[in-house]
Amino acid sequence: MYTLLLLSSLLLLLPLSSSEVPKPTSVLQYPQILDHYSYSPEASQTFSQRLYEYNKYWDCSPNGTVGPLFVYTGNEGPIDSFYYNTGFMFEIAPDFGALILFIEHRYYGESLPFGSDSFTPEGLRYLSSTQATADFAEVINHYKKTKGITQVVSFGGSYGGMLTAWMRLRYPQLVDVALAASAPLPMMARSAKPKQAFFEIVTIDYKEADARCPDIVRKGFAQLYSAVKEPGFEDVITETFKLCKKFDMSQFNHLVGWARNAMLMMAMVDYPYPASFMGKLPAWPVKHSCKMMLDELERSGSEMSAMAAGAGLLYNGTDGTKSCFNIYDDFIECADITGCGTGPEAKAWDFQCCTEFQLATPSNNVTDMFPPLEWDLDIASKYCQATYKVSPDPVDASLNYWSADFSAASNIIFSNGLLDPWHAGGVLEDVNPTVKAIIIADGAHHLDLRGANKDDPDSVKFARTQEVVLIRHWLNQKEKKNSAKNGSEDLIHF
Ligand SMILES: *[C@@H]1O[C@H](CO)[C@@H](O)[C@H](O)[C@H]1NC(C)=O
Ligand SMILES: *[C@@H]1O[C@H](CO)[C@@H](O)[C@H](O)[C@H]1NC(C)=O
Ligand SMILES: *[C@@H]1O[C@H](CO)[C@@H](O)[C@H](O)[C@H]1NC(C)=O
Ligand SMILES: *[C@@H]1O[C@H](CO)[C@@H](O)[C@H](O)[C@H]1NC(C)=O
Repeated sequence: MYTLLLLSSLLLLLPLSSSEVPKPTSVLQYPQILDHYSYSPEASQTFSQRLYEYNKYWDCSPNGTVGPLFVYTGNEGPIDSFYYNTGFMFEIAPDFGALILFIEHRYYGESLPFGSDSFTPEGLRYLSSTQATADFAEVINHYKKTKGITQVVSFGGSYGGMLTAWMRLRYPQLVDVALAASAPLPMMARSAKPKQAFFEIVTIDYKEADARCPDIVRKGFAQLYSAVKEPGFEDVITETFKLCKKFDMSQFNHLVGWARNAMLMMAMVDYPYPASFMGKLPAWPVKHSCKMMLDELERSGSEMSAMAAGAGLLYNGTDGTKSCFNIYDDFIECADITGCGTGPEAKAWDFQCCTEFQLATPSNNVTDMFPPLEWDLDIASKYCQATYKVSPDPVDASLNYWSADFSAASNIIFSNGLLDPWHAGGVLEDVNPTVKAIIIADGAHHLDLRGANKDDPDSVKFARTQEVVLIRHWLNQKEKKNSAKNGSEDLIHF
């Protein structure tokens, strides 16, 4: 469980209990085409892609009604982590008589084209979101053909949400409706300039928890920057941040990144009930972390200690067993400034950030409470060339992601939680009557996709209701259009 949780930030995290989601009725291996875009001899090679299927709600009556396929387009992690954290699909599937299918993304979990050799610069060459969506299309097409399914709804959160929206954009003949939760597509497309910067939202979350907290964080970092100019700072920093390894200046940027990342992650997963990350996080972790800062400031009078205590919550949890922090285990720097996690998944995600995705804007200590840490395309390019012999291509990303102009699209729901820093990069307003934005005021990262919980705020309950109404309406519209073909269209308005 521990390693499962050390994933990149664009991921779901495990709730303390995931018992409400039933085990898959089958785990399948699909012989997937390795390269969808070449006619070379290698193009006919296949690899095993893992699928999780759940069929107990599926209506495949002998009298002709075949229920829809609900497909989850897997993101950057093993498919079980998404399967057990997307309770929403299981809660609504019975009403639709839907067949549930989770497809693992190539290069993650067990869907590795070249086994452990998949992660060399050479082995990684078939990893892209374009290949991944083509994989999903193959599988969906197979299901439609072999099972007589005519309706498909795709779901995804975060990077999985981007993929899901992209399925509707690229394969409208296969996917009728897409629910893209917390999918920062405009940010990826690098076209629209976000109204707020990524770390600005983290700062606002802390401010909303308690107006004093951003100031503590800002002063805490300022003290850290001055502390390292004093003689004997090594011991002071080691003690204040409870570091396992004695501090020296070579660790300075990493320590700042470690602390910043903790607050960013807690803002992302600011859920109304306890969940587990590197340790157990309490309900509303931002509030809790802010409270820890206030308590520590009261005790020690030092903002630096207070900031360290508030950051430590992520890595140690509320009932942690760590006696000290190993900041190089907790946080690994990579091409995604919000972290890539650790292990093979981290390599694959790092590579994708080096090729397709240039993520979150850096902090600046002006619109946010964090010190400016440099990060731009030049730095990324140097890192990516040195690591994988590739360079980020923002132009290509923009073209592939419709330059974030979705006006020609249809039947997509973009949902975003305002607590989630990623909402800065999301679609926040209706684009047209069938590309709808749903805003969840008290929602963190794709809270709407998680199963219902007694502590859910009303805003997420309402969002889920709207989502069901839209999915049902658009599926009905499709049936009507198929039978009438007279071009009339009922639109739904909220
Ligand atoms: C036939 O389809 C209807 C819905 O159209 C359903 O209510 C009914 O249970 C089905 N009958 C059988 C025998 O599956
Ligand atoms: C981790 O949490 C435990 C339990 O609250 C605490 O005793 C310990 O000091 C914490 N470790 C660090 C490094 O903060
Ligand atoms: C951040 O800005 C404040 C002024 O608003 C300044 O006092 C502080 O030193 C800055 N912090 C860092 C780490 O540069
Ligand atoms: C189009 O089809 C709908 C439903 O099938 C029907 O109610 C409507 O009258 C039709 N409109 C025209 C102009 O034929």
